[in-house]
Formats: sequence, structure tokens, C-alpha cells
Amino acid sequence: MKLICCGATGLMLASCTGTPVHKVEPQATSLPAQLPEDRREADTVAKESFRRLTFFADGRGMAMTPGLIGVYKMFGWTHIYDRMLRERFGLVMENGAPVGLTEVNYEGMRIGAIGCAMCHVGRAAGRTIVGLGNKRFDIVQLGAELARRERIYAAFMPASKEQREVEDAALAFARRIADPDHGNLTQGMVPASLVFDWFSRAAGQEPPADRPRAAVKIPALWGYGAKRYNAQFCDGYGDGGAPGWAVQTELTAGQKPEAVRRYLPKIEAAEKLFAAFLPPVYPFKIDRAAAVRGAEVFAENCRECHGTYQRDASALPVFKVPRLIPIHRVRTDRDRLNARSTALDRQVESSPLRDLTRHRSPPPGYFAPRLDGIWSRFPYLHNGSAPNITALLTPPVERPAVFSLEDAGESGRFDESRLGLTLPSEREREHLFQRGAHGDRSVYDTRRTGHSNTGHEFGTDLCDGDKASLIEYLKTL
Ligand code: HEC
Ligand code: HEC
Repeated sequence: MKLICCGATGLMLASCTGTPVHKVEPQATSLPAQLPEDRREADTVAKESFRRLTFFADGRGMAMTPGLIGVYKMFGWTHIYDRMLRERFGLVMENGAPVGLTEVNYEGMRIGAIGCAMCHVGRAAGRTIVGLGNKRFDIVQLGAELARRERIYAAFMPASKEQREVEDAALAFARRIADPDHGNLTQGMVPASLVFDWFSRAAGQEPPADRPRAAVKIPALWGYGAKRYNAQFCDGYGDGGAPGWAVQTELTAGQKPEAVRRYLPKIEAAEKLFAAFLPPVYPFKIDRAAAVRGAEVFAENCRECHGTYQRDASALPVFKVPRLIPIHRVRTDRDRLNARSTALDRQVESSPLRDLTRHRSPPPGYFAPRLDGIWSRFPYLHNGSAPNITALLTPPVERPAVFSLEDAGESGRFDESRLGLTLPSEREREHLFQRGAHGDRSVYDTRRTGHSNTGHEFGTDLCDGDKASLIEYLKTL
């Protein structure tokens, strides 16, 4: 491999002459035709396939500009870029490379395809968990960095017409996700507006400038096989029987509707993967006697909305359909719900994929999520505004107004007794307030739009003993 160093930018460019090139069309990771009967085995196979799942096809979809992946790989991800990839973009790193980035060859080009796993693989208490939302992914930062590098790279690298087309698509994707006016303000939050914007553009309209960011944390995918038959997303807007929603991120990234139709069987195979995911088992000690008491507290205070939890003959969780709770009852942040409008409904109903992305019109509200594997899903609520369960079980005015997301999934940040993130000391909190006010993206600041920690006041008046027992019970789910 040859190296060119362009001094003006300090960016190292690699020409990828040494790489054998295979033409694969459409670029697809093959998925298992059938999963094993045994649920534990199926879970293992499904998670392994999901890590490599991408929908990049026809030179379009979530991807980096051709050749750029070579630059990063050449230096060994870990040595030079590890900090930046991990801390600034929130990528989960494994064996020296970001989880969810797959190298594919398309028409002789070497392309870094961004897979579902970049968002849907996360870390908790120092463990990498497939199907858990990435707690720190920062789409705006990643987009800005990609756009910057891709522009420079394109300017210096000779390219064929075909290559330019793929390059232009990748750059347009990077610019779109880098939009600071509509993108996320905090790590781990993904703006749903980005996905909805596609429908406006497909209808030939620019999305309204004053639309809400509607940023939400990335949800866990286990149990989705049951949930989809009710509805999709935190507010039930998507019809889960219409599989096109699962690849809406690809359309946002510039994929063509015709390609989505062509790879429909692959989308359905992907849905089978999430349906096979099992939640992670709590990795530390549980006070079993307290958990038994906690089950009673749960039955009295939480079951009405969050349901009951049974296990099958192999002691594995039985997934059930969650209930949607109207906003006037749960009273959590509304920004995500404000992204819905009759104009959006009309655009979804008239889109070229209207049969594959049908919407529902439930009364505004949020699902009371099923709580399987809840120990790993902090920070809590759809907008991640409660750092741990103790905070969630505290009246909103007393919940932490700011907390840090630095190393959020690492063991040092896991608080076993509060179940979730550790909290700052008195002195650190002052500092976090200032950093939050200055827009620090690794600080969760509930003063930001869409970040408020209001609502869900259930269980806040329990005595400390009941709260502690309830937490032990939640660890068993
Ligand atoms: C940029 C990060 C990101 C990427 C990439 C991404 N997702 Fe998601 N996904 C999200 C977020 C955020 C939500 C929740 C949206 C909401 O509730 O408003 C979500 C929701 C979902 C849901 C619905 C879950 C539920 O509980 O209703 C499914 C299914 C899903 N994604 C599958 C996929 C697949 C398949 C891919 C790859 C093609 C993918 N996602 C790529 C961020 C991402
Ligand atoms: C009236 C219905 C209702 C009751 C009662 C209720 N919840 Fe919830 N719960 C919800 C809804 C709705 C959400 C989602 C709110 C949101 O994300 O904005 C939620 C969210 C949560 C979450 C966050 C889930 C996640 O993925 O981040 C946890 C944890 C939780 N509830 C625990 C409890 C516990 C423990 C109790 C009993 C003390 C309880 N809830 C009682 C409706 C309820």
C-alpha cells in the first residue's frame, strides 16, 4: 500500500492498490436462513449476524466515502483514533475497530458501510451488549468529522465518474446528519426528526425549519418481536407490521425506495434476528430476599403499566406486548411527540413506500417499556433524562439536573445500588453545570430542549426500604 501525506491538512491518504476486489451486488451480509430452535443458541447466532448487518446497496445507504476506510485501517484504529472514535463519536470499539463498521467492496471501491450495530450495540457495566442502544453515539459529531474528511479526501483523490457518485452520496449523508440546528445536542440521543425529514423531501418539500429535534435514546431491541405487533418507536407511530421502518435510516442516508423494495426479504430476515435476542442477565449479586419483597412493591405500583414477567421452561423471559400510556398520565418530555403532525401523516401516506412504512395514530403518549434487561438500559426514559433508577423514583424537582455521560457504559460508572449511572460529587456537579451551560455534549443537561426530566412520578412516594427492594427486583428482569 502506498501512502501520501498531504501537509496542508495533515490527513494521511492511502491508495488501496493492494486490496483484492470482489464485486458483490447488492452489497449484503448474508443472514442465516433459519435460526436454531434452542433460544440460547438462536440468541448467539442472531447477535453474531447482527453485528455485521448492513443494508448498503447500489452505492447508497449509510456509508463512508470510498477509500476513506483504508486511511483509518492503515494506522490500526486503536493507536491513533481510538480516543476520538470512542470519546467524541461514542463508538463502541472491539478488537481495535468500531462495532458496526463493515468494509465492503462495491464496483471495485473499498467502502466503510455503517451498520445498524453502530447504534444498536451498546455497553453497560463494562460489557458490550448486542441489541442495547449505544449510550454515547454522537451522530452530529460523527457527521461533521466525516463531512470534513470526505471533502478533503475527495479533493485529493482521483476518482471515476462512478466513484464520484458514491462519494457524493456519502458526503450528502454526512452533511445531513451533521446539521447542528436539527441534530442531537447530547451524546446518546438520536434526532427522530432526521428520519421524518425523509418523508418531507420525498414529497418534494423542505422540512419546516422550526421542527423539533425530537431526539431520543436508542432503544433496546430484545422483545421487539412481540412489541412490533402493537406498534413501533417510543410513541407507537410506526406500524410494526410494515417492515420498511426498520431501514428508514438507510433512506435518510440516501438509499432509493426501489432498493428498499428489492431487499425486503433481507429486512424480514433481520426482524427475525431481533426477535431472537435475549436480554443481558444482571452480572452482579442480587439480594434475593429483597427481590421477593420488591416483586410485591412492583405489583402494587408498576404492574398496571409495565405488565407481568414470566419465564419459559428454560427459564428464559417470555416477551409480551407493551402498553401505550397517554401523555397526560405519564407527563414526561413532549418534544418527541411534537414531531408528529397532520402534515407528516399526509407525507407518510403518500410516500413511494407507503405500503412498507405505514403509520399509526395512537393518542399522544409513550409506551411503558417492557422492563427485560432494564438494569442495562440507563439513562432512563425515552429521552434518557434519569441517570439511574433511584433518580427515577425521586420526585422530578429532586432528580439530578445534570449528569455526565463520560464512560457511561464502563464499569467505573455503574452504580449497583442506584441501578444505573454513578452521580457526581457536590463539587463536580458545579463543574458539570458550567460545562452543560457551554453545550458540552458529554454532559446530559436537563435544561436543554427535549431533555427535561419531568413526569413519571410513579413510586416516588415509596419509603427507602421499598425502593431498595424494588431495585433488587428490577435486577432480576
Ligand atoms: C443513528 C442510530 C441508529 C441507526 C444507525 C439505526 N437505528 Fe434503529 N433506532 C434508533 C433510534 C433512536 C430508535 C428509536 C426511535 C424512536 O423511538 O423514536 C430506533 C428504533 C428502531 C426500531 C424500533 C424499536 C422499537 O422499540 O419500536 C427497530 C426495529 C430498529 N431501530 C432497527 C434498526 C435497524 C434494522 C437498523 C439498521 C438498518 C437500525 N435500526 C439503525 C437509532 C438507530
Ligand atoms: C401509569 C403507567 C405507569 C406506571 C404506574 C409506572 N410506569 Fe414506568 N413508565 C411508564 C411509561 C409510559 C414510561 C415511558 C415514559 C417515557 O419514556 O417518557 C415508563 C418508563 C419507565 C422506565 C424507563 C424505561 C426505559 O427504557 O428507560 C422504568 C425503569 C420504569 N418506567 C419503571 C417503573 C417502575 C419501577 C414503576 C413502579 C414504581 C413504574 N415504572 C410505574 C408508565 C408507567
